[in-house]
Amino acid sequence: MAAQAFSLKQVRILSGPLKHAMELNGAYLLKLDADRLLSRFREYAGLEPKAAHYEGWEAMGISGHTLGHYLSGCSLMYASTGESAYLERVNYVLNELDLCQKAHGNGFISGIPRGKELFEEIKAGDIRSQGFDLNGGWVPLYTMHKLFAGLRDAYRLTDSRKALEMEILLGKWLEDVFSPLSNEQIQRVLHCEFGGMNEVLTDLAVDSNQAQFLSLAEKFYHGEVLNDLASHKDTLSGRHANTQIPKIIGAARQYEVTGKSKYGEISRFFWDRVVHHHSYVIGGNSYNEHFGDPGKLNDRLGEGTCETCNTYNMLKLTRHMFQWDAEAAYADYYERAMFNHVLASQEPEDGRVCYFVSLEMGGHKSFNTQFDSFTCCVGSGMENHALYGSALYFHTDNAIYVNQYVGSSVDWHEQGVKLIQETAFPTKGSGKLTLQLEQPKLFTLKLRCPHWAGRGMSVIVNGEPLEITAVPSSYVDIEREWHDGDIVEYMIPMTLRTESMPDNAKRIAFMYGPLVLAGDLGPIQSDEKEQQMLASVIIGTPDTITANLVPKQGTEARFLMNGIGLSQDWELRPFYEMYDRRYTVYWDSFTSEEWQREETAYRTALEANRQLEKRTIDFVQPAEMQPERDHQFEGEHVGLGSIYNRKYRDTWPNGWFSFVMKVLSDEPVALAVTYLKGSAPLTDFEITANGHPLGLGDLASEEMDKFETYMYEIPTQAIQGQTETTVKFSAHSGCKVARVAGLRT
Ligand code: AHR
Ligand code: ZN
Repeated sequence: MAAQAFSLKQVRILSGPLKHAMELNGAYLLKLDADRLLSRFREYAGLEPKAAHYEGWEAMGISGHTLGHYLSGCSLMYASTGESAYLERVNYVLNELDLCQKAHGNGFISGIPRGKELFEEIKAGDIRSQGFDLNGGWVPLYTMHKLFAGLRDAYRLTDSRKALEMEILLGKWLEDVFSPLSNEQIQRVLHCEFGGMNEVLTDLAVDSNQAQFLSLAEKFYHGEVLNDLASHKDTLSGRHANTQIPKIIGAARQYEVTGKSKYGEISRFFWDRVVHHHSYVIGGNSYNEHFGDPGKLNDRLGEGTCETCNTYNMLKLTRHMFQWDAEAAYADYYERAMFNHVLASQEPEDGRVCYFVSLEMGGHKSFNTQFDSFTCCVGSGMENHALYGSALYFHTDNAIYVNQYVGSSVDWHEQGVKLIQETAFPTKGSGKLTLQLEQPKLFTLKLRCPHWAGRGMSVIVNGEPLEITAVPSSYVDIEREWHDGDIVEYMIPMTLRTESMPDNAKRIAFMYGPLVLAGDLGPIQSDEKEQQMLASVIIGTPDTITANLVPKQGTEARFLMNGIGLSQDWELRPFYEMYDRRYTVYWDSFTSEEWQREETAYRTALEANRQLEKRTIDFVQPAEMQPERDHQFEGEHVGLGSIYNRKYRDTWPNGWFSFVMKVLSDEPVALAVTYLKGSAPLTDFEITANGHPLGLGDLASEEMDKFETYMYEIPTQAIQGQTETTVKFSAHSGCKVARVAGLRT
């Protein structure tokens, strides 16, 4: 290890927006009713629930995932603050889980519907696995991963021996499920999202000192994805992002514990691809939960950008990797994603969090409700804002890394050193470190010079300016004998600059120091979105445009455009501060001459999109989890796939599938279905809406693999005053349904 993380217990967040976010998170955790989160755990263990389960995802097949996050979140908050209220929650949940585990009697515990039966089927080799469905359950191993992680965190952060004992029993139960399975069978199981089972089992092996869990962790090596990464092939396009990232965190952990270089290779290659080829300016990745083609982000902007779980996981991976190489580039990425995605995903008044952080031009943030959503990102959100202390400082035996500029303290008690940081970051670039030492000590203080700082970083020690050459994305090393009361001041020039889309130099975002700036386009509830069609257009070139941003008097990190906004000049402010307004993060820049040439085409494209949006009642993207869930997807003998980066559903012979789609209650509605024509033989099927025939699937085509959209009319009889109808595709006897790549009413 080139550097080691501090335990969260050694770090305190003392001031600034991260402290505020952490406090909101803590208040939220304490408002939740643990008995409601435990409800299904008790029910499935045959014990009387003490309260009804929550709604949202806690009433669905993934129920129980929140409890795992809750256990982690409360443990992290306890470690980060020392407040006993969190410890009491942890102990309460552990006692209840203990009762459930004892009632099951074989180590098993879970809040997954039909969980017990489902894992018995798997153990018997009856494996029915799709992307998010394992034997009819919604990602049951993903949910188990959260529980393992919760127990691990309770053990590590609250010193609960009971948590470890329960985790060992749970691990043995899992071992029993997997031991009869062949590698081929396991690979079929792994076809369904399984979180980072390889991570938690490796941790369990270390914590329990039982090597058998290392072997179990190795069984969770998902060859289909990891082999490509090991041979440096980026085949991420079209893959569900948050299904993959935890597997790589697992590989990183396996590398640390087993030393097998393949795991290190996988992690390094993956990190580089995601951070440098699949990430937006805020440090988040994915569109509608999926990776796209590397470096192709320009046309992937919308409400569904940047699932927050993904960044929670990328930061975890980055924390591991910094320890291997101690390179400033990792800390630079961490800073970007921490301030501009994670912090920006929380509503700063009530602590609600985003699932997706929208980068739609003219879009806005949508926050999940706190007591009836319980999506994956609400779960990881419970940890996100408790984890801020985890990557601010690292150390070796004789050096301490100051990676993030955050009002905080670190107690390096192994060396008798305490460091207190006061700072105006992230809106200003200056701050001060005060050292408290038991006795004078020789060590190196390593201050990160951020990638955006230019060469102007300066440092003053005890009032004396230091001679330094600060190189962006590296460290300023100050090696000396330090004394109690020493003071180090840093000044980092906050550069104002632009960053372009990798595939469109003219689509730019503004940055100020570590912060992404967003343009404030006004209140969310207004019709102005329509009038603001051209709001994201600015006139100027990327290299001269920042000269036309003027600091807004009396504010921090806010700027006013000066004559560059096409429709009007907008105010820019830190993206993390933007929560109840429409905004744009990305702008299209033109010189005046370019705009004259391109205005008509630009307006026409915007108008076409707007018309389609206006006329659309509902849209479903087949083979994507959230849209399918939202549209009550059902089917038998169904298949799924992806071609040319578009997902589709089809069937095996005699199969069918259906979606519930929104319609208008009193008007005939058009249904547009996009098929991938040509390459699938034996397709012959019919389409119905609430049982009324809409048409036959006669898709004869000369051309191979061509997308084509067919229009059908849903008659009012099929709607009967309702606002929804079930659109069903059923194969004729012995035939299949063709590949369906999109449905729009
Ligand atoms: O399937 C569980 C989680 O829910 C996924 O990881 C996330 O992307 C999703 O929406
Ligand atoms: Zn999520």
